[in-house]
Amino acid sequence: MKVKNICCIGAGYVGGPTMAIIAQKSPEITVTVVDINEKRIAAWNDPDVEQIPIYEPGLSEVVAEARGRNLFFSTDVDAAIDAADMIFISVNTPTKTYGMGKGMAADLKYIELCARQIARVAKNDKIIVEKSTLPVRTAEALKRILDNTGNGVNFQILSNPEFLAEGTAVTDLHKPDRVLIGGDLDSEKGREAIQALVDVYAHWVTPDNILTTNVWSSELSKLTANAFLAQRVSSINAMSELCEVTEADVQEVAKAIGMDSRIGPKFLKASVGFGGSCFQKDILNLVYIAKSFGLNEVADYWEQVILMNDHQKRRFAAKIVKTLFNTVSGKKIALLGWAFKKDTNDTRESAAIYVADYLLNEQAEIVVYDPKVTQEQILADLDYLGTRSEEENRKLITVVNTAEAACAEAHAVAVMTEWDEFKTLDWEAIYTHMLKPAFLFDGRRLLDKEALTDLGFEFYAIGS
Ligand code: UDX
Ligand code: ADP
Repeated sequence: MKVKNICCIGAGYVGGPTMAIIAQKSPEITVTVVDINEKRIAAWNDPDVEQIPIYEPGLSEVVAEARGRNLFFSTDVDAAIDAADMIFISVNTPTKTYGMGKGMAADLKYIELCARQIARVAKNDKIIVEKSTLPVRTAEALKRILDNTGNGVNFQILSNPEFLAEGTAVTDLHKPDRVLIGGDLDSEKGREAIQALVDVYAHWVTPDNILTTNVWSSELSKLTANAFLAQRVSSINAMSELCEVTEADVQEVAKAIGMDSRIGPKFLKASVGFGGSCFQKDILNLVYIAKSFGLNEVADYWEQVILMNDHQKRRFAAKIVKTLFNTVSGKKIALLGWAFKKDTNDTRESAAIYVADYLLNEQAEIVVYDPKVTQEQILADLDYLGTRSEEENRKLITVVNTAEAACAEAHAVAVMTEWDEFKTLDWEAIYTHMLKPAFLFDGRRLLDKEALTDLGFEFYAIGS
């Protein structure tokens, strides 16, 4: 079976970039990305390709190449479902905020709505691909909804988790470490569906890097990969605190252990805490699944990764307060960076949100500069926490357009995101315009401690 028409439901950080690359690499396949969010689709269709709603290095070039040729963005979900022979589901699966599993389980309501819509609209056989990260056995739920409410057509369900990291999405998609496809290996139709998706990726991925497994292994592999990655960050962050009290340096420790080929050098960067839409959500999900099977030790083991991360964010904020003579009340503190990592405008679960919230509770005045995040987003992130009224947030937080403006007259500066441009700021000028002593807190170990101390800064970096 050759796929000619792909539909992707969900034009977010996963669906948008993934479909752009599939379209770029497979000119004979028509790819339509649909979303119920009209504003988002309008932005994907903006004639000025730099205005697409997701900032990712290299993405606008890919969209410019494929859009209008075989890549389309639309709000007409029904029409795209009807026309497609393969449908990717890339809708969001946030942590539940109500009822059973509140704060832990993944909320599958958007997935279920998609399944019901597909079942209602589909008039011919379709391959359904789970792209969103989902709890193990979601495919089974999808299949039951589709088979019981559909128009008697055949649905094959595949799990094809996305491993791209934001900020490097285009390179990750162009050269994936592996593509994982889970499906029903025991049936002829299942194997055909798997092969159809393998053929799509084979446009640019070598066969050795395409793994096929059963659906459950594929679903669980995604949660496991994210849990292991997050665990590495929490592990090095735990060591960063120990380094600070023992005069060891976490960067030196990371280098020393990373040269052990069994450990490896990547993902050992101590930080103010991991963020992003996946790590916390997926681990909570894992913890919930383990608990629901009565595996309490397994659940506790993974939950500790989250507890350590929360501790790291709080500890960084508390360090600022303690260093500023135990009070930040009425003091101006500049936060450089709001995104959860560099090269993205995504702020979901960003450490900056929690550090800002902590400092606002201590009555600080916060000024934020981030090269890619809008004021609207920053305020929305704080409002979402619900710690104080929207008016108060707007009174206490200012968003500015340059790092220099953020730091002028500040008592302290905190680096929250590792944007490259922060390395080459005119730190001498910034020092001159700050209140003294000028405190600088490097939550990303981005800056040169010696050079900045020489300029006169009171410098603190995580882990030394
Ligand atoms: C992650 C996974 O890497 C990816 O495979 C999956 O598909 C989605 O979740 P993402 O969240 O986009 O990707 O970015 P990632 O590079 O993993 O960073 C996550 C967080 O960990 C960021 O806040 C980052 O700053 C932090 N981090 C990462 C560290 O603090 N130290 C490190 O050494 C690495
Ligand atoms: P991710 O990081 O997983 O891509 P996002 O939140 O960036 O998550 O994107 C998910 C997108 O899915 C959102 O733009 C949302 O509007 C869209 N979406 C959710 N439910 C539906 C649905 N039933 N039909 C179409 N689009 C949907």
